[in-house]
Amino acid sequence: MKHLLSSKDLTRDEVLALFVRAGEFLPVVKERRRLNLAEGKILATLFYEPSTRTRFSFETAMLRLGGMVISNADMGSTSSAKKGETLYDTGKMASTFADIIAMRHPQPGSVAELALGSSVPVINGGDGPGDHPTQGLLDLFTIQRALGRLENFTIAMVGDLKYSRVVHSQCEYLMHFTGVRFILVSPEGLKMPAELVERLRGKGFEVSETADLESVMGECDVLSDTRIQQERFATQEEYERYNGVYILTPALMAKAKPDMIVIDPLPRVNHIDPAVDSDPRARYFEQVENGVAVRMAILAELLGV
Ligand code: NCD
Repeated sequence: MKHLLSSKDLTRDEVLALFVRAGEFLPVVKERRRLNLAEGKILATLFYEPSTRTRFSFETAMLRLGGMVISNADMGSTSSAKKGETLYDTGKMASTFADIIAMRHPQPGSVAELALGSSVPVINGGDGPGDHPTQGLLDLFTIQRALGRLENFTIAMVGDLKYSRVVHSQCEYLMHFTGVRFILVSPEGLKMPAELVERLRGKGFEVSETADLESVMGECDVLSDTRIQQERFATQEEYERYNGVYILTPALMAKAKPDMIVIDPLPRVNHIDPAVDSDPRARYFEQVENGVAVRMAILAELLGV
């Protein structure tokens, strides 16, 4: 692995090896310890799009590995991008300062563009509606820990399946495993890209599509939830058409299997009733903790430490 730009970059074996390593790092995260594996190494986080979890998660992961961090949370308005610097040049600069780079940007393909100029590993922390390879990994890691397997289960993906880079990334990784049944739940206008659905079917996966969440609550082992993404719509009016279409409530959870799990990359807008948080099947906060361990594994792998 030189960079982690796309969920397509990893083989099944590489995914599973990262999860073994993440499992080893998890106690370090839970016990809030610091290792010295990445001593002397610097991570640069370059974020051109809002983030709470992803940027802090990368930075926490680097610090727990014993490394250091330089960060810009608002590259779009406070970096030389504002003066017209190309992503290629920014990549050249950042890799002069840092040993590894994590980046988020609203444009699909932008992280790969910066990586062309970089002499150090670059990690995609989300590029617009395109891909979110580290989130997809931590989601699968959470499923593996909760279900004890990554095979033979039913996953319902719910919400804005058109723009959610997270569910796109989950699909890419799940293609490495067998016996996964996909139920895609979205309004008609926010369906999973047809090309991705065809690739899943082409690989032999059973995929069904519906707009009705309630009717599938009892069928899934994993409910992969996502918000409706306001920033991806051209107008407020278009967003309002979908806002609040799916709200996960205790009443809906009552229809689900006793051992199903709910994952969600967050942020929460209005799509999960806070009363669901205390349900042991709600794993979205645990997922955040898993994310630090998974990112420690990714950083360690790319740094070769
Ligand atoms: C997701 C993202 O940014 O794509 N959040 C995250 O990375 N934790 C999902 C979202 O913003 O809805």
